[in-house]
Amino acid sequence: MKRTSRRPPEPAKQQSPLGGNARNILITGCSSGIGRATALMMHGRGYRVFATARRREDVAALSGAGLEGIQLDLASSSSIRSAVAQILDRSAGRLHGIVNNGAYGQPGAVEDLSRDTLREQFETNVFGTQELTNHVIPVFRAQGCGRIIQISSLLGVVCLAYRGAYSASKFALEALSDTLRLELRGSGIHVCLVEPGPVSTRFRENAYSAYLRNIDRTASAHRDTYSRLEARLGGTRPLPFTLPPEAVARTVIRAMEARRPKIRYPVTVPTRFFAAARRLLPDRALDWLAAAAGGRGRR
Ligand SMILES: NC(=O)c1ccc[n+]([C@@H]2O[C@H](COP(=O)([O-])OP(=O)(O)OC[C@H]3O[C@@H](n4cnc5c(N)ncnc54)[C@H](OP(=O)(O)O)[C@@H]3O)[C@@H](O)[C@H]2O)c1
Repeated sequence: MKRTSRRPPEPAKQQSPLGGNARNILITGCSSGIGRATALMMHGRGYRVFATARRREDVAALSGAGLEGIQLDLASSSSIRSAVAQILDRSAGRLHGIVNNGAYGQPGAVEDLSRDTLREQFETNVFGTQELTNHVIPVFRAQGCGRIIQISSLLGVVCLAYRGAYSASKFALEALSDTLRLELRGSGIHVCLVEPGPVSTRFRENAYSAYLRNIDRTASAHRDTYSRLEARLGGTRPLPFTLPPEAVARTVIRAMEARRPKIRYPVTVPTRFFAAARRLLPDRALDWLAAAAGGRGRR
């Protein structure tokens, strides 16, 4: 059987449907991890990358690395509006694609999530992401083309214990993406979901901060499990099958450049495994598998 390469094609062969040097890309959450790796890799391939981050010092560092650093906080509508205005101004209103990457994970048992904590999770991962996307869709419509690459997750495919808020946000992102794709049929705009499993980034560290900020573990029925969860979130031991962020960046580029992009791009063995399990197994068997994979907070 012929083995197909997972590497993206050579940059020289890539042509923007907009022609010339119009390959402008907007990426959110570029201060670290997958966003940063994708921004740098795409810049290296000749894209003009509008790399966004929340903090000023991160924006400055991105600009220093040759990218177009722009401040953007997904939890703020005014920040989203201002970033879009700056990007469209600098790019003469032309955009090849958007990579919706910026997000964080809120750990904690579902019964310990306050309304505000759940809302905060959705403000960034869902509401802000969709608001930003809705600002760029008219640009894509006017051009007759555009790519929307959504960084979802293994946890947008299956649920694991103590990740309910994050999973709910990624399932919502998957639902909005699937709906958007139906509504954009024939418009020349493609919507793709990239679904990573474990990736070595600052994700775990940031999740631990969200956990400490928002979960009252002393009053919880889950406090025994929380001590195991804290050991995992505070530790540095990688989960099995962890990949570097560049593996996801390469997949994003494939989705951005494929003539006929796929709807879903699973990345890592665990995502492929659970995506197949969800299709094949009855609910109870999938529950058993998910409980075993979660290791009662240890994994
Ligand atoms: N790492 C994994 O194992 C994994 C697995 C599956 C999916 N993912 C997904 O991959 C994407 C990137 O995560 P990562 O692994 O690279 O983690 P990361 O290193 O923590 O990066 C997350 C990025 O999102 C940004 N962000 C968080 N809240 C934001 C907000 N309100 N507005 C704008 N940006 C915000 C962070 O900015 P700050 O530095 O300012 O916080 C950071 O730049 C996320 O969508 C995540 O859900 C990650």
